[in-house]
Amino acid sequence: MIEFKVTPIRNGTVIDHITVGMALNVLKIIGIKGENVQSTVSVLMHVPSKKAGWKDIVKIEDRELDPKELDKVALISPNATINIIRDYNVAEKFVVEVPDVVKGIVKCQNPGCITNMHEPIEPEFLVESKKPPMLRCIYCDRIMTEVSDYII
Ligand SMILES: Nc1ncnc2c1ncn2[C@@H]1O[C@H](COP(=O)(O)OP(=O)(O)OP(=O)(O)O)[C@@H](O)[C@H]1O
Ligand SMILES: [Mg+2]
Ligand SMILES: [Zn+2]
Repeated sequence: MIEFKVTPIRNGTVIDHITVGMALNVLKIIGIKGENVQSTVSVLMHVPSKKAGWKDIVKIEDRELDPKELDKVALISPNATINIIRDYNVAEKFVVEVPDVVKGIVKCQNPGCITNMHEPIEPEFLVESKKPPMLRCIYCDRIMTEVSDYII
C-alpha cells in the first residue's frame, strides 16, 4: 500500500531512517528554527520502518546539507540516509558516516573540562566506536553519553 503522508518535493533533501526521537535535533543541526524558514520542511516522527521498528524523517525543499551538518547528523543518528531529490526523484542516496575526527562540532559534557573554561581550546574527541558513536574527550577523558545535547 502506498501512503502519501506529505506532499512530494521537487528538489531538496530527504533525511530518512533518523533514529526515532531525533527529528527535532536534526532540525536544530541544520538551523531550522521556524521564523527563518524560507522553504517547505516536513517532519515525520515515529513512522514505522520497513527494516525494523520506528524512525523519524525530515524533508527539506531546496536545501542540501554541508559536510559539517552531515557529521553532526551522523553523531545523533548513525543510520540516517541522505536522499538528494531532483525533479521529484531520488538522484543520490548515501548513509551518513561518523567522522574519524570529531573536532569543533561537539562540546565536552564535563563542565570542569578545560575546553569549557575561558581558554580558547577547541573541543576534540577520539572516536572509539562509530556505531553506536562513542566519543572520548582528548583533554579530560570523559566519555560522551548525551551527544545530541552537546552539538555546537
Ligand atoms: N519527491 C519526493 N518527495 C518527498 N519525499 C521523497 C521523494 N522521493 C522520495 N522520497 C522519500 O525519500 C526516501 C527514499 O526514497 P526511496 O524511493 O529511495 O525509498 P526506499 O526504496 O524505501 O529507500 P530506503 O531503502 O533508503 O528506505 C523515502 O522516505 C521516500 O518517501
Ligand atoms: Mg524505505
Ligand atoms: Zn573534556
